[in-house]
Amino acid sequence: MHNPALQACGIEAQYVRVQVPIGHVQEAFGLFQRQGFLGVNITIPHKFEALDAVDVIDPLAQKLGAVNTLAIRNGQLFGYNTDGPGFLRSVQEAFSAEVKDLRILIIGAGGGAGRAVAVQSVLAGCKSLLLANRTECKLQPLLAELHQCANGQTSLQTCSLDAHDLAKRLSTVDLIINATSLGMKAEDKALLPAGCLESRHLVYDMVYRANEPTELMQQAKAAGAKQADGMCLLLHQGAISFEHWFDQPAPIEAMRTGLLAA
Ligand SMILES: NC(=O)c1ccc[n+]([C@@H]2O[C@H](COP(=O)([O-])OP(=O)(O)OC[C@H]3O[C@@H](n4cnc5c(N)ncnc54)[C@H](OP(=O)(O)O)[C@@H]3O)[C@@H](O)[C@H]2O)c1
Repeated sequence: MHNPALQACGIEAQYVRVQVPIGHVQEAFGLFQRQGFLGVNITIPHKFEALDAVDVIDPLAQKLGAVNTLAIRNGQLFGYNTDGPGFLRSVQEAFSAEVKDLRILIIGAGGGAGRAVAVQSVLAGCKSLLLANRTECKLQPLLAELHQCANGQTSLQTCSLDAHDLAKRLSTVDLIINATSLGMKAEDKALLPAGCLESRHLVYDMVYRANEPTELMQQAKAAGAKQADGMCLLLHQGAISFEHWFDQPAPIEAMRTGLLAA
């Protein structure tokens, strides 16, 4: 999606993929800087290491606890997180809704993406946030952190991943987010029991599969619920990265076309 964006804006640059071994992020950033790179997207598993490898951390990236975008300006390394703001834009686009008006359930809140979406939702002032995670002990530190940014606006609770517990809680939420890696493989077990979604639900799967919709997307469709998959987030977090690099609006339709073609 970035090469079509560069082309659409007449920018003479190229977006390439570079594989970096774990533990070598700082060294790689130094190399990119010396080689004249303008910016970098950082993905799993480097988003946490990148936080310590930049010169200036954007305050939002600090709060979200991860850097997924690097901008190199005048020899300085600036670190940003575009997953959180990309999530807000993708909710607007997919559901015509604002996060501040929603009661949200995040399944997989203990992972990197789930955590970023949880913090961003609380910063946006969502009505309530219900957190679930397979490893439940990861939720208490997150909850304590969320209470610090919540300003008393958002009601915060946790629940178990037990399918029947989850199904009972669905009557109290509007937006259901899968932030686990379940759904990446066709053989993955279903996240929710069959028949528990309602047509009023907004269902957001951070996972995307190129060839067929995930089980969660299929369940949402069967219930007549509005749905968005991870492609929407991928697009919008990429667009915000582009804006950090070039200080101009991203050519979103060129990026969408490029992404779908890829
Ligand atoms: N669309 C996008 O642009 C975008 C951006 C970021 C992430 N994502 C997607 O979001 C997902 C999570 O990414 P991440 O960076 O947060 O990964 P991560 O930090 O490794 O977290 C993985 C999460 O999935 C949970 N999990 C893994 N296997 C599970 C299972 N069998 N049953 C229940 N829960 C399980 C983990 O629970 P435990 O804590 O118990 O291990 C954890 O909450 C991935 O599929 C990734 O592709 C998409």
